[in-house]
Amino acid sequence: MDTLIRTIDLTKTYGTGETAVKALDAVTLSVLPGEFVAVMGPSGCGKSTLLNMLGALDQPTSGEVWVAGENLARIKDVDTFRARTVGFVFQLHNLIPTLTAQENVEVPMQGQDYSRKQRLERTAHLLELTGLGDRMQALPSQLSGGQRQRVAIARALANSPALILADEPTGSLDSQSGEEIMALLADLNHSQGATILVVTHDRRVAQSTRRILLMKDGRIVDDHLLGDPFEEDLRTLAASRLGQALLGHNHLTVDYLDPAQKALLQSLLGKVTES
Ligand SMILES: Nc1ncnc2c1ncn2[C@@H]1O[C@H](COP(=O)(O)OP(=O)(O)OP(=O)(O)O)[C@@H](O)[C@H]1O
Ligand SMILES: [Mg+2]
Repeated sequence: MDTLIRTIDLTKTYGTGETAVKALDAVTLSVLPGEFVAVMGPSGCGKSTLLNMLGALDQPTSGEVWVAGENLARIKDVDTFRARTVGFVFQLHNLIPTLTAQENVEVPMQGQDYSRKQRLERTAHLLELTGLGDRMQALPSQLSGGQRQRVAIARALANSPALILADEPTGSLDSQSGEEIMALLADLNHSQGATILVVTHDRRVAQSTRRILLMKDGRIVDDHLLGDPFEEDLRTLAASRLGQALLGHNHLTVDYLDPAQKALLQSLLGKVTES
């Protein structure tokens, strides 16, 4: 299958000389159409920088970025590429305060080939889809944080982009609204086949996706597909201090694990205790 995203030795350095910061360090990454990927890692490791490069919001220092078959360095009309191919959902939802929810969703559709009637139908459909069918005429100030994030997601979907880039879309929300937003993204991935990259600090949020990229110091240091929830719980446990203490000191018996799970635990910890 053709990749939707491909980066080759993607490097981004901010500043020069002694104060230079290597935000991305030779990142090589492929994402297939329809994947749902979480990007995790400590603050400052380069997650937002990566998303900015993939969305052609900023230019690499070196290396290549290909999205939907196009080399971003060779694109002449970046605005049109962004409007057609990428939907952005950021933590600060950047809604226009003087426009209604419906008008905000309509913004990226301006200048594209839609009639006024088509725009109204599509924006109404997207707001229904994101659960805001009854609040289409509300201003952002009249909506809750979670509802505003839904408007931002509807807006990101306006032109049926091949790729949705979401930078901490649940970061400013309470856990219930955060779960709803992730459920909505998962549904869009599942039902519409949208390819989604979502930056999150929250391991539980990441569990809604199907693949986790872990970054550190501008590099991807782990990249794995999510297995069954039990396997992920094991990974989380093994990564925690408590888990390491318990598992490492034989306080946990693992005779209820099947062979594949034991093998995973072994690879995570280096040893498994049989009771
Ligand atoms: N415009 C900029 N000018 C200079 N340095 C920058 C700029 N943007 C980002 N950086 C630096 O690049 C590195 C990566 O930043 P980035 O915003 O990608 O991190 P992040 O992983 O998104 O962090 P967070 O989780 O805090 O959002 C950081 O060291 C940051 O200080
Ligand atoms: Mg960031």
